[in-house]
Amino acid sequence: MFSTIVITGGAGFIGSHVVRLFVNKYPNCHIINLDKLTYAGNLANLKDVEGKPNYEFVKMDICDFDAFYKLIQDKKVDGIIHLAAESHVDRSIKDPFTFARTNVMGTLTLLQAAKLYWESLPEKYEGKRFYHISTDEVYGALQLTNPEGVPAPFSTKASSESQHEAYGKDFFVETTKYNPHSPYSASKASSDHFVRAFHDTYGMPTVVTNCSNNYGPYQFPEKLIPLFINNIRHRKPLPVYGEGLNVRDWLYVEDHARAIDTIFHNGKIAETYNIGGFNEWKNIDIVKVLIQTVDKALDRVKLETTETGETIETYPDMDLITHVTDRLGHDARYAIDSRKLQRELGWEPSLQFEEGIEKTVKWYLDNQEWMDNVTSGDYQKYYENMYSNR
Ligand code: NAD
Ligand code: TYD
Repeated sequence: MFSTIVITGGAGFIGSHVVRLFVNKYPNCHIINLDKLTYAGNLANLKDVEGKPNYEFVKMDICDFDAFYKLIQDKKVDGIIHLAAESHVDRSIKDPFTFARTNVMGTLTLLQAAKLYWESLPEKYEGKRFYHISTDEVYGALQLTNPEGVPAPFSTKASSESQHEAYGKDFFVETTKYNPHSPYSASKASSDHFVRAFHDTYGMPTVVTNCSNNYGPYQFPEKLIPLFINNIRHRKPLPVYGEGLNVRDWLYVEDHARAIDTIFHNGKIAETYNIGGFNEWKNIDIVKVLIQTVDKALDRVKLETTETGETIETYPDMDLITHVTDRLGHDARYAIDSRKLQRELGWEPSLQFEEGIEKTVKWYLDNQEWMDNVTSGDYQKYYENMYSNR
């Protein structure tokens, strides 16, 4: 059992779900949320746990070696779960340096500090763990059809086995060669290599996971799903890149957090696990599902009678779909094979996509204040005032 765990990036989207899970599930473990509070970090994501006795927030940049080295010694940290990163592909295309700094140098900073501290202890690496959270994007992109021309499954309810039978082997597995295309995925790939190098060179007990696209509450509205829910609500255009035929494999964020818990405690040292829900969707189909779900929730659905006298539902916000110039280097398809994790550690996603999307849409519609705060930038000003002189 771990006594003190640092979770980096805990004020971000996935990190906040991981912090919440760990604080509630492990009351005897001290959980330190370490976050720089960039534009993507928001402590409002953690209001429900901030008063818990085993929770502590530390505002810190993961590139600050001295501060982190001191912290882990002072707090006797025995576990590190590393999520802090620059995470948005579009931003990485505009500003790759920030991604190299945070994702590569930041990860290396944490590794080196943990190495020096843990190696200074009598028990050394015994009972310690460095868990690095990565993405499926490091593997590159898959084809939209396999070599026999069979289209990707795009199924929402098929089991992992039936998806495999239907589509052969064209999924990312743990041994798929790294082939990143965007500055974001290149920086994550580089950080993954450093983590593995620290195991292979120094014997650090590391584990790496590569997860598919996450969705759910508290995601910053620059990513597809929260951006589009908010735009539909306010009847703003929905900028679909290109034809919208790119495929992403979506996982509900709480299922990812559960997988992280399972792997942190029971995963094998030096292993890689892929995390995903066998849930592929073309972007354009997701957009249509989002419009239908939001229009239903906001009572905007219209009933029309066809020429044959049939009554059908129509969704007025379909008009918001606007095809815009494609993203540079836009990866065609991501699809994760997570059967190793299911087989070895018994993890499975708990939610079907339809249920997850309904929960997600409801959460964003019910939490307009959170959305307004994040989009207005007020919370950024608040943090500047709050922390600038500390
Ligand atoms: P996010 O952008 O919502 O949150 C990132 C967090 O890291 C923020 O709280 C931010 O303040 C913090 N941060 C950024 N730079 C920092 C620095 N220099 N020092 C300290 N803190 C810093 O990201 P997310 O979507 O929650 O992703 C979390 C992790 O999971 C990332 O490593 C990402 O690569 C990985 N991942 C994300 C997805 C996804 O779909 N979102 C999928 C697979 C893997
Ligand atoms: P995103 O949420 O940025 O995640 P990632 O790029 O890491 O997969 O984008 C998901 C998909 O949606 C991706 O194929 C790009 C596309 N997309 C749009 O079509 N329009 C948008 O405004 C955004 C943000 C994304």
